[in-house]
Amino acid sequence: MSLTEENLLVIDEDDKFIADAKRLFDGGLPTGHSIADAVQAVNAGNLRMVILGPSYAKEAALESARSLRHQDPSLISLIVAPEVTANLLRAAMRAGVSDVIEAPLTEEKIEAAINQFSSDVMARPVTSAAPVDTSRGQIVTVMSAKGGSGKTVTATNLAMLLARQEDTSVCLVDADLQFGDVCLVLQLEPKFTVVNAAAELHRLDSQLITSILTEHPSGLKVLAAPLEPAFADDITTAGLLQILELLSTMFDWVVVDTASLLDELLLSLLEKSDQIAMVVDMDLPSVKNAKLALETLRLLKFPTGKVKLILNRSNARARLDDKEIEGALKQQIQARIPSEGIVAASVNEGRPVVESSPKSKVSKGFEEVLELVTGKTAEASSSGGGLFRRN
Ligand SMILES: Nc1ncnc2c1ncn2[C@@H]1O[C@H](COP(=O)(O)OP(=O)(O)OP(=O)(O)O)[C@@H](O)[C@H]1O
Ligand SMILES: [Mg+2]
Repeated sequence: MSLTEENLLVIDEDDKFIADAKRLFDGGLPTGHSIADAVQAVNAGNLRMVILGPSYAKEAALESARSLRHQDPSLISLIVAPEVTANLLRAAMRAGVSDVIEAPLTEEKIEAAINQFSSDVMARPVTSAAPVDTSRGQIVTVMSAKGGSGKTVTATNLAMLLARQEDTSVCLVDADLQFGDVCLVLQLEPKFTVVNAAAELHRLDSQLITSILTEHPSGLKVLAAPLEPAFADDITTAGLLQILELLSTMFDWVVVDTASLLDELLLSLLEKSDQIAMVVDMDLPSVKNAKLALETLRLLKFPTGKVKLILNRSNARARLDDKEIEGALKQQIQARIPSEGIVAASVNEGRPVVESSPKSKVSKGFEEVLELVTGKTAEASSSGGGLFRRN
């Protein structure tokens, strides 16, 4: 659904402000008097953008905006303020507000906001009410803007949890073409890699790619990264996209691990993905890089609505809090993975923590990521005996 003046709502406690708003668009602009009206519209499922009037342009009232975003993280919220100050901007961003508009509210300003945020609305995650393309699995790409943030541990643990779901086939693709270490952390010795698939593009079909994949004892299939960095040059972006397209017709889920390089390859992968898990480590350089990466994606008019923020080492004793991070990134954190020593041990042992320590806090963090990606709880979707399914 595209963004129009019909699927937005203007709310304010001030009758005069609402009366003025009602006059816009020939009286076609829906209005309300309280956050409760907005909550009702969110629950009805047709609200895309909410414009909060000047009554909400105060720090305390901004909490209401935050609670709305909790109801629907893809909701775009704007605030109308008599004066746009740096303090208000900062507070608004911390509350997850998309933008602040200087009063008075006019048709031109609403149209400009609709144009500015349309691509985000178009990228709104598919809800259960919308038709789902069941002929194709979902591609989930795990990225981070800084090396060592936890992409590979997130991708491998997420893929293992997905594979644990009943009747679910999963392929994990190592698209960190120079230094991919998915096979290392899963203790696999691949016979073939993505280099072999790229060399056979002209005749690549499901049978051939199946023979190139490496199988993990859990049933998870892996497309290994090249064995040497120099081989990465043999793989073109178009070739990798063709491989992903084929895998998405064969598997329910294709999880892609990547390198921390915002280059043409990664941008193309992100474009092709149904969901993007952006891992942000709990330190200042990671948050700074994530902010720059998100800004670049927004500049490129990339549908950032499909980016889900995952905070890694969420309990680290860095002097950053979640609100500051969300404010800087203008996006809510949707899952948290705590830091635990067993992760390093599990990497060295070649056994993902969700398998070696399923009850640990860090495994619960990966279950949060699973829930975020599938929209289902880990318990609801896992098969009873806890054994992984084989393909
Ligand atoms: N939540 C965590 N708790 C403890 N250690 C962690 C956690 N997440 C990651 N690590 C440690 O950080 C290391 C780097 O993680 P990982 O390899 O997943 O990062 P990456 O983003 O894939 O790095 P690269 O950019 O090199 O590919 C891991 O070997 C692991 O030991
Ligand atoms: Mg990695």
